[in-house]
Amino acid sequence: MRDIIIFDTTLRDGEQSPGVNLNVHEKLQIAKQLAQLGVDAIEAGFPKASPGDFAAVKEIADNVQGPIITALARAVAGDIELAAKAVAGAKRKRIHTFIAASPIHMRYKLRKTPAEVLKMTRNAVRLAASLVSDVEFSAEDATRSDWDFLCEVYAAAIAAGAGTINIPDTVGYTTPVEYSRLIAYILENTPGIEKAVISVHCHDDLGMATANSLAAVMAGATQVECTINGLGERAGNAALEEIVMALATRGDVYQARTNIVTEQIARTSRLVSTLTGVAIQPNKAIVGENAFAHESGIHQDGVLKERSTYEIITPESIGLSQGRLVLGKHSGRHAFRQRLIELGYNLGDADAEKAYERFISLCDRKKTITDRDLEAIVDEQIVQVEEEFALEYLAVTTGSSMVPTATVRVRHGADVLQEAACGDGPVDACYKAIDRVTQIETHLVSYALGAVTGGKDALGEVTVQVRDNGHLYAGRGTSTDVIEASVRAYLQAINKMIQARKSAQPEG
Ligand code: KIV
Ligand code: ZN
Repeated sequence: MRDIIIFDTTLRDGEQSPGVNLNVHEKLQIAKQLAQLGVDAIEAGFPKASPGDFAAVKEIADNVQGPIITALARAVAGDIELAAKAVAGAKRKRIHTFIAASPIHMRYKLRKTPAEVLKMTRNAVRLAASLVSDVEFSAEDATRSDWDFLCEVYAAAIAAGAGTINIPDTVGYTTPVEYSRLIAYILENTPGIEKAVISVHCHDDLGMATANSLAAVMAGATQVECTINGLGERAGNAALEEIVMALATRGDVYQARTNIVTEQIARTSRLVSTLTGVAIQPNKAIVGENAFAHESGIHQDGVLKERSTYEIITPESIGLSQGRLVLGKHSGRHAFRQRLIELGYNLGDADAEKAYERFISLCDRKKTITDRDLEAIVDEQIVQVEEEFALEYLAVTTGSSMVPTATVRVRHGADVLQEAACGDGPVDACYKAIDRVTQIETHLVSYALGAVTGGKDALGEVTVQVRDNGHLYAGRGTSTDVIEASVRAYLQAINKMIQARKSAQPEG
């Protein structure tokens, strides 16, 4: 069995997904969860992209132990020096520098000759290697590049000090057979390649990212770059959960394994979905709502007789509990907190108390409380956002022959503000009342409503995205009352927006 290095780029390539905008706190939260998941490397961001990106990479480098913390940099001195500063606080740090090598990119994007690209590669890797001991080099758009030129570029990068050579399928263009051949060609024709780790990075434009990454592993790659839930530019990157569970399930074929704690997959997937506001499609492999659902009678019959008839992996192996009844309102704070710890949450006193209060109020509304309910309550709360506007009171009247009307009362610092509004429906009325009370103009981009568990008394879960000044802010709310969940989600998105506006303003 070969050990495969899992390089997670959720916070860099994943954050480049359309509509994803994470703040520093959220990135740190995800990075800590990625460390729990056991990834070998975290690509924390692209420091040159913005001051916020720099701050996030630095925060992660200073506070997350275990994985190698990586910063991305173009093959130019300014980017590389900034990346080195951002990761300086990490025990294990890496600079990942890249330059495009395909004729299309060199000619139209870079306007550089192959000789210039070769020279920039050498200089960039040499500079990075003078600043940190671990350097990765990527030839962007490798799968549309000339193979001999690629070998030349990689040989130059290795000679200049790169320890990892990444072969990106930047536009999701390759096929498993072609990619395997390319890797074999690079292995055979690149001087010094035996000293380097071969890494792959696949995009999903043709739905082939996972298949291509796994073919690469079989061809000799030892690092796979991937993201949680397959987030990423355009159609996304190879999904971490798919790569890891494929290797775990078919070790007999791949002869390879990873260090991932697979029982942390479901939690990580949910956290990323919650904080990014990007919902997971129900039929998504491994982490989709339906991944373990058996609909047809024949399948249900088979699974009841013997699970392995239709299940090749178990829900437990990715950390999905069987939804057992855990606690009731007489359980007390200690038992509640103990259960949260068992579920992997380590909340501070104030947060634990807040979660407990929500749990007690949920007990009054819902007959059975499951682990999934507890996770939903806590996941909503761990979104660390200052509650500029906090919901105090909500009243809605609606019906088939009346105008829906909402009254919303919020706490804003020392003030309590109240407004009422009518709307097309109860949610519209609430959102109009909130717009009045906050006096903030928002543009609601998306609204999604789901149920956390089955049953008529299930917790409703609402995810919204609002746009402000070109940026999207996600909010999530849960409640057995879907109108209240909608209001909580909207207020959370607005609070995030206010926080971002504040941190964008110069101090003083
Ligand atoms: O897709 C790509 O080529 C990249 C590189 C920066 C590795 O994301
Ligand atoms: Zn990419």
